[in-house]
Amino acid sequence: MDIFNAYPDRPGDRPIHTPASGPPQTDRVPPAVYEAMGEAGIVEMFFAFYERLAESTIADMFPKSEKNRRKAAEKNASMFVFLFGGPHLFQQRHGPPMMRARHLPFVIDEAGRQEWLRCFRETLDEAPELFSMPAEHVEAVWKFVSDFSAWMVNAVDTKEEG
Ligand code: HEM
Repeated sequence: MDIFNAYPDRPGDRPIHTPASGPPQTDRVPPAVYEAMGEAGIVEMFFAFYERLAESTIADMFPKSEKNRRKAAEKNASMFVFLFGGPHLFQQRHGPPMMRARHLPFVIDEAGRQEWLRCFRETLDEAPELFSMPAEHVEAVWKFVSDFSAWMVNAVDTKEEG
């Protein structure tokens, strides 16, 4: 039995991979990030992130229409409001985070995680200028998402080597 995957065991009847590193041990992002960006700035940043995801090699996982992408980006941003040191918006609006469980319907391998991170990094690089993210905290945000995203991986690499 897999102690980390209390629920659900096998969505879509595929084997679920659990990273050996276990749940992430990482540093919090300084609350100054939320204070400077506010909910509006974080939502704008996630719209930009989702537009990049729509052009990426993992676009299939994300909503196809701009309208639905905006909705998804807003929901995702409500979690990042909390992760950047603000109020528990996601939890108030959508319930318990269960981040790994909420990603289990999607096949996320290490290559997919790297592509997601590439889109995030590109968005992050323009965040001080476009979304009022304090430049001195950009690397703290990067460390957080790099570390935490490892816990969303739930499949071994699907592409054959070589
Ligand atoms: C720091 C790591 C991550 C965080 C905090 C995060 C957060 C979230 C949140 C809050 C949602 C909305 C959940 C819901 O609708 O109930 C979501 C959805 C989703 N995430 Fe992540 N995620 C992370 C990493 C990843 C990675 C690495 C991938 C894939 C490579 C991914 C793919 C998706 C997909 C496909 C959805 C559903 C579509 C959507 O609503 O956008 N996520 N994520």
